[in-house]
Amino acid sequence: MLIKKPARSDLSEAQTTSESAYVSRRSVIKGLAASGVLASAGVGEKAMGLDLFGGKDEAKQAPLKPLEFTPQKPVPDLVLTPEDKVGNYNNFYEFGTGKTDPAKNSQGLRTEPWTIEVGGEVEKPATVDVWQLMNEIGLEERIYRMRCVEAWSMVIPWVGFELGKFLKRFQPTSRAKYVAFQTLYDPEQMPGQRNRYIGGGVDYPYVEGLRMDEAMHPLTILSVGLYGKTLPPQNGAPIRLVVPWKYGFKGIKSIVKIKLVEQMPPTSWNKMLPQEYGFYANVNPEVDHPRWSQASERFIGPGGLFAVKREPTLPFNGYGEEVASLYRNMDLRKFY
Ligand code: MTE
Repeated sequence: MLIKKPARSDLSEAQTTSESAYVSRRSVIKGLAASGVLASAGVGEKAMGLDLFGGKDEAKQAPLKPLEFTPQKPVPDLVLTPEDKVGNYNNFYEFGTGKTDPAKNSQGLRTEPWTIEVGGEVEKPATVDVWQLMNEIGLEERIYRMRCVEAWSMVIPWVGFELGKFLKRFQPTSRAKYVAFQTLYDPEQMPGQRNRYIGGGVDYPYVEGLRMDEAMHPLTILSVGLYGKTLPPQNGAPIRLVVPWKYGFKGIKSIVKIKLVEQMPPTSWNKMLPQEYGFYANVNPEVDHPRWSQASERFIGPGGLFAVKREPTLPFNGYGEEVASLYRNMDLRKFY
């Protein structure tokens, strides 16, 4: 694929500021006629050149609700990926393997009501109503870099809460060493689960896992929104995992089950191709994927296709200061 270097003007401060101003506006202006806000956002989306990402025949977008949350202070080094690209360049194989398939095929996903069953090695197992939880847990914005194992990246303003704080409610026992997650299994709603060709040969339901200390780390969140609104279905509505120092495939979408367990749980990509995708999946520019280099990435930011910028990949996706100590004494080539 031909990648042209962007002009500096493609990543101007003005664009960054306007995206983030948009986000904080959403959090503070409560009671503002939502339709007015959404209409002005729509104009911006068109102007961003969405067509390059195949948005022409996109399905009618499922309605999203504005969320109340504590905004994050602006992160000066990070340029946000525009909202239309976050929602039109996705991996959600339950809805097809093409990058625009999830946006086209997931808009009918029924996300209300939605519950998560939390169990396993906990004193107080329970089934949680996700929409009730959103109202009472206290949501915060987290602007994170997101690095896909396929060597593209985005910067996304998530809205969510710390997974660790959530898990403590269920009182993990001393035997809890790992956390296992599971996506909805509903072949009627998810065409990729009905047909192996559409679903990329993944053994469904999609499952993921974290070590307990990774799950309890304050950077690890369960996200219920982005850009100030509830999650679009293609991004994992109504609730998905975000672990910013790991490859994006750890960020399991549309979660229905969380189980604390003693043994390392199976994970979807590791089951399918163990020599290519490990359990840890920490972003590491020094450990290449067997079929491509991980030394750099294509940043999907503001501007058209030619503004996609190749950047060096950072160890732990730039979060090494916070998380490298979790892997002290581990050979990261072996535990990839
Ligand atoms: N979760 C489920 N259930 N199914 C998937 O196919 N794809 C993963 C992850 N979570 C996936 C999933 C991959 S490979 C990536 S890179 C991220 O979701 C993409 O998240 P995004 O589409 O919100 O950017």
